Amino acid sequence: MADLSVNFAGVKFRNPIFTSSMTFGWSGEALKKAGLAGAGGVVCKSIGSPAETFEHPRCGRMVLYRYNGMPIGMQNNEIFSTVNLDKWLDTELKIVGEGGARNVVSIVANPDPADTAELARKVADTGLVDLFELNVSCPMPAAGVGMNIGKEPSLVAAQVAAVKKAVPEIPLMPKLTPNISDIEPIARACEDAGADAIAATNSIQALAGVDVETGRPLLPAFGGYSGPAVHPIMLRIVAQIARAVKIPISGIGGVSTWKHAVEMMMVGATTVQVGTAVMWRGYQVIGDILQGMESFMKRKGYRSPEEFVGIALPHITTTEEMAKLPPVVSAVDPDLCIGCGNCIKVCGYDAVEMKDDKTVRMLIDNCDGCGLCVQSCPTQAISLIDKAEALAQADAMIG
Ligand SMILES: Cc1cc2nc3c(=O)[nH]c(=O)nc-3n(C[C@H](O)[C@H](O)[C@H](O)COP(=O)(O)O)c2cc1C
Repeated sequence: MADLSVNFAGVKFRNPIFTSSMTFGWSGEALKKAGLAGAGGVVCKSIGSPAETFEHPRCGRMVLYRYNGMPIGMQNNEIFSTVNLDKWLDTELKIVGEGGARNVVSIVANPDPADTAELARKVADTGLVDLFELNVSCPMPAAGVGMNIGKEPSLVAAQVAAVKKAVPEIPLMPKLTPNISDIEPIARACEDAGADAIAATNSIQALAGVDVETGRPLLPAFGGYSGPAVHPIMLRIVAQIARAVKIPISGIGGVSTWKHAVEMMMVGATTVQVGTAVMWRGYQVIGDILQGMESFMKRKGYRSPEEFVGIALPHITTTEEMAKLPPVVSAVDPDLCIGCGNCIKVCGYDAVEMKDDKTVRMLIDNCDGCGLCVQSCPTQAISLIDKAEALAQADAMIG
């Protein structure tokens, strides 16, 4: 077994994969199972809401979003735990460590930072916390909590500073909201206020859908959207944060395969959290991700996951710089083309035509080099090549 351990916010984790704060995290037994399945860290369901404990059971609150029948995302309106803080400290928290994972405790930022600090101190006094995650990002918050704090740099900074002052001995990782236009000032405010790491991010505010027969929304309030569909958005956010701050990042959002996890690390995350995928597929997904990451590391000769943290960042440029790259056009390999016509359907430039022999021909002058036909071809018969090269090839054929 390769050494997958990482140092994150001053804590050594046996590997970079955590389960994120979500439904099953209300239970110590469930977090223990996630640890036994191999997770390096487990984050509990956010605890310490200023509101009274939510009654159990609650109203329906999760809706899958499907494309062609396959779930690609999920809206939840879960808010916080139904277990009250004292009961959770006395029972659930004590079991978590038996799974072997580091104990990452997600606490809810209360409207008054002094209350959040008091909550953190109380939880820290159990001696069972390896790392605090500070929830300033719930996407369906009551007044003064969740993303109502997380969208304002000064409010986030006040929370971070208060908790760091009250509990200096435990590293602190605020969990940010993606529901803002510019994440960088928030990330910098966290770093300046003394945060040891950043968790990026909570789910994206959404409306699950509408029942067109009744005209009613599938869930009657905006909630948080998560799962594979959000992954590219979260990659962008993690990359932006990685360029803005020096503190390490725990990347979250749509991770369900080892490749997603490695991508997240390559854009700057040192650890990666998995949420919806565990809800959909069980704890086994953690082992699958770890196995895949290990094989990848062996194949590429990496000795530590830390070696590929951030390696994609220098290659992310601006739209202006991208526009200066040399033009490309599509080229088809007739031996691989099966004449399905997908490329003709998706082409927005009339640059593909079907030949009599039921293979396609690219019309170089029409092709704008967008690459959608390459992505849509089921047999990888199309590739993008330098336009100058394509013209030379065409000349040679005529000659
Ligand atoms: C049902 C559900 C409950 C969640 N509860 C919390 C929570 O209590 N605290 C929190 O910080 N994030 C919570 N989240 C957000 C997740 O931890 C995670 O940030 C988000 O779902 C994106 O990751 P994913 O696509 O891997 O699920 C919840 C997500 C879901 C789906």
